[in-house]
Amino acid sequence: MKITYYGHACFAVEVAQQVLLFDPFITPNPLARHIDLKSVRADYILISHGHGDHLADAVSLAQRTGAQVVSNFEIVTWLSKQGVARAHPMNHGGAATFDFGRLKYVHAIHSSSLPDGTYGGNPGGFVVESAAGNFYYSGDTALTLDMGLIGEATRLRFAALCIGDNFTMGPEDAVRAAGYLKCDDIFGVHYDTFPPIRLDHAAAQGRFKDAGKRLHLVAIGGTLEL
Ligand code: NI
Ligand code: MN
Repeated sequence: MKITYYGHACFAVEVAQQVLLFDPFITPNPLARHIDLKSVRADYILISHGHGDHLADAVSLAQRTGAQVVSNFEIVTWLSKQGVARAHPMNHGGAATFDFGRLKYVHAIHSSSLPDGTYGGNPGGFVVESAAGNFYYSGDTALTLDMGLIGEATRLRFAALCIGDNFTMGPEDAVRAAGYLKCDDIFGVHYDTFPPIRLDHAAAQGRFKDAGKRLHLVAIGGTLEL
């Protein structure tokens, strides 16, 4: 599966010729100023929770691409009022089948208010199961033992985990998460964007290496095949 990193927690995964774009936050991110939003493709836009650093570009991208937006019920309701035409609501523990495969919305330990203060439901992450392979995106979360349930149920090709610390897991807990997930290839997200989440890349990658795992930190605009 080809992964493209757009900075912060925004990345795209090509699954069965469909582009799944997660948590678009490109135009407000100074580290991603070389990314032209018009060049970003999406067939599906998946939103983990309501914070602005996860959905700032969701409405404009959905309108330009015609992508279907998938998120929790509260966020989908709010985005529909902002002008998103095609949206699919989910809630924790539920799975649904799309043309790329099976998608499950799983919980995260975080918060989820929307930019205007509207209640954004509970925050989550996603498990994607497809003929091309399976992966998990944690969203913003603390380490939770429940990640072991995902590792038990689904053999993951990779996991996209928040690793920037302060607002989410840091590298130490992300290594433990990878253990519960039984996953050796971790795609790091949610780091370096703001001063409190600056990451020592070499130290973080060293922690994963010591645990027999790989932490992939991709340049913004770069791609990775896993
Ligand atoms: Ni957040
Ligand atoms: Mn965030």
